[in-house]
Amino acid sequence: MRPTDPKELKRKERAGREGRRTYRDGLVKAVVFAPVIGKRKSKSGSGAPRRDAFERSPQARLEEAVGLAAAIDLDVRASGLVPLLEPRPATLFGSGKVEELAGIIRAEDAVLVIVDHPLTPVQQRNLETAWNAKVLDRTGLILEIFGERARTREGRLQVELAHLVYQKSRLVRSWTHLERQRGGFGFLGGPGETQIETDRRLLGERIDVIRKELCQVRRTRALHRKSRQRVPYPAIALVGYTNAGKSTLFNVLTGAAVLAEDILFATLDPTIRALPLPGGSKAVLSDTVGFISDLPTTLIAAFRATLEEVLQADLILHVRDIADAASGSQRSDVNAVLAELGIDAEAEPDRLLEVWNKADLLDEASLERARNEARRAGAVLVSAVTGLGLANLRAEVERRLNHRRQTYEIIVKPEEGALSNWIYENCELIARTDLGDGVVSLRIRIAPEKRDRLIRLAGPARFQLAAE
Ligand code: GTP
Repeated sequence: MRPTDPKELKRKERAGREGRRTYRDGLVKAVVFAPVIGKRKSKSGSGAPRRDAFERSPQARLEEAVGLAAAIDLDVRASGLVPLLEPRPATLFGSGKVEELAGIIRAEDAVLVIVDHPLTPVQQRNLETAWNAKVLDRTGLILEIFGERARTREGRLQVELAHLVYQKSRLVRSWTHLERQRGGFGFLGGPGETQIETDRRLLGERIDVIRKELCQVRRTRALHRKSRQRVPYPAIALVGYTNAGKSTLFNVLTGAAVLAEDILFATLDPTIRALPLPGGSKAVLSDTVGFISDLPTTLIAAFRATLEEVLQADLILHVRDIADAASGSQRSDVNAVLAELGIDAEAEPDRLLEVWNKADLLDEASLERARNEARRAGAVLVSAVTGLGLANLRAEVERRLNHRRQTYEIIVKPEEGALSNWIYENCELIARTDLGDGVVSLRIRIAPEKRDRLIRLAGPARFQLAAE
């Protein structure tokens, strides 16, 4: 990426402001290894088999890992699949393999090694010693990316919390830690406290501080959401696998200039904008964090608050990169994360609309096929870049939203201030006709859950269902 690239400059500036070290400060040479463990059965040693990740071909997994590494601008010098008969408790790979990989790392002058597999703290430490390089496993890498992408205070706190919890679980005794004592320095720890105990205590304290700050930020967010809910527009949330094109779609649909880049995780915190619909109605659209296969459970928990926007949405748009060979497994990944949030994609088909994006990347035959399949699946085929299918998407969104909301005509007299206030605050006003003497006829659209209240306020005879 050229240093003059405005996006790059913006990112640098942001990282500088936050006072965080970033991989972008200098290109960090890295290598990526994706272990392929011989017999599938041996992989899920503990508990249930992991849901998706191994459904991907090893090559696709490796490509994804390299893409993730590129997302934080690592200079990936080499990458490869590493066949492995059985994971070793001490180093994951057998000693011969560790030596062989060390050769590659040395030859590439790499200071960072990404192992696309969960590593125990012991494995990580032993590999770091053997390779004389920093080693990140998949969770570590995802945490780095989330850290880079966090934009709001809440996002940053969430990532830091997830990071600290992860770090705390990684505190293991090593040679340097084993015998070193830090007694006597007073503020750093009591006499006899080992380095590990001190580290654990300091991490614990920081975790407590962040949890408190997060509580505060969440209270504010809840207040904001409440005030937004008073705006009588339906809420729509964009979800999707990372890099599916959510931010791009968000921008074209709302006309907002929000960061969208050809890197993963361009969005970490939901961004919220008004979405004008063709029939003159409006909705509120929120963009959310990009999902990913094997998203560590701690991170799902950390982002629960952010993803509450999704839980609250009247309509969820699931954006898919239909041109990606892994589109099918990405779909399952996203649905699995949604299920963890308590949203069952199969049970609520009306609430979920699949948006098949990047249609422009398909050749003519595939496009035709995708068009037919989308029709059968009730999905909308679009290209956020060329604009193909967007009118269709807007219309379908409006149709789905209006399906839930009915339109009424109601006549309001000038002395009925309370009633008209309630209507303005809770209903979507489509048209207002002056009938003279302060009497107005209002054409309104109302959510089903608010209809009974209106009937109570105005009396059942007062308003009638209008034709759309
Ligand atoms: P995360 O924030 O990482 O979850 O990504 P995202 O889903 O928000 O994706 P984003 O909008 O950042 O787009 C990722 C890349 O795909 C960018 O390079 C976009 O320009 C590109 N892209 C998005 N939509 C389309 C499309 O319809 N066609 C093509 N060809 N590229 C697209």
